Amino acid sequence: HKESEDNLRSPICCIMGHVDTGKTKLLDCIRGTNVQEGEAGGITQQIGATYFPAENIRERTKELKADVKLKVPGLLVIDTPGHESFTNLRSRGSGLCDIAVLVVDIMHGLEPQTIESLNLLKMRNTKFIVALNKMRFIMVDRLYGWKTCCNAPIEKAMKQQSKDVKIQFETQLVQIITQFKEQGLNTELNNMDKEMRETYRIVPTSAISGEGIPDLLLCTVLEVKVIEGLGTTIDVVLVNGVLHEGDQIVVCGIQGPIVTSIRALLTPHPMNELRVKGTYQNHRAIKGAQGIKITAPCLEHAIAGAALYVVGPHDDLEEVNETAMGD
Ligand code: GTP
Ligand code: MG
Ligand code: NA
Repeated sequence: HKESEDNLRSPICCIMGHVDTGKTKLLDCIRGTNVQEGEAGGITQQIGATYFPAENIRERTKELKADVKLKVPGLLVIDTPGHESFTNLRSRGSGLCDIAVLVVDIMHGLEPQTIESLNLLKMRNTKFIVALNKMRFIMVDRLYGWKTCCNAPIEKAMKQQSKDVKIQFETQLVQIITQFKEQGLNTELNNMDKEMRETYRIVPTSAISGEGIPDLLLCTVLEVKVIEGLGTTIDVVLVNGVLHEGDQIVVCGIQGPIVTSIRALLTPHPMNELRVKGTYQNHRAIKGAQGIKITAPCLEHAIAGAALYVVGPHDDLEEVNETAMGD
């Protein structure tokens, strides 16, 4: 039914993993942007958000000829930091998402924050796809040369590779599958034609030349469950429901709850990162999922990473304040 499909909210996909596995670079590759190189020290220090409209996902996966019927308007992708000091942001990101991509460096295998991310996802029973990244880099440096196949599906790219490259890939893959097994998880190289219920899919990728990106996107949208939205959970990212100009909101502040009202609701244009300054679209109302910039008086002392609450017409402001501060 057309109308109800229009009301489906966009699922949220969280990118997680150890520092420098290429999470931001993968998003740059999909967006055609260069966020990673602008980051201080090449380290992500905040949660990022990018909206991928369904038509972009369809375009990017068309070579796989999967003819996916996307029932959702798009996908909100959340980038998280992998540095060990940002456990709270990873926890928040994983708490928001419907599905996740766990990025693993093919030569490093599972690292401390890979395992930490894994445990966060397990805790909330969140399905995820493993992106086995840096295919190209590794094979150029240590092997006999990865033949670049820009943005190709991984099966097509693998066919171009020498026997030695394939053997080295298999060796790494087997080791990483064993490491996941030690964490109590069954993983397997992705096979699009196969239903993999209790098994997590592994998709080899290169964030530099884009091999495997179509597979990664397709797996993500296929695994995602369709969620109807009317919730009210809000963060830097609006997960569910609708925010309006003028809504009264409460956020946790350094000196107590901040009660204010929304002056403007801004979003970056689709396929742009929320964290990068640019031009914004102004909205009277916004439906989740979206990465939003809210302008409102008195937000200077708001605590980063805390949840944001909307005061409804029948809410007791005192109660909402208490909830906000208890976060
Ligand atoms: P944090 O957010 O700080 O945890 O790092 P990250 O996981 O977002 O990794 P980032 O995108 O910052 O990439 C780290 C480094 O690895 C950068 O120098 C990238 O250019 C490089 N890199 C990422 N992916 C690939 C890849 O697929 N191949 C190659 N050759 N280099 C990559
Ligand atoms: Mg990053
Ligand atoms: Na990095």
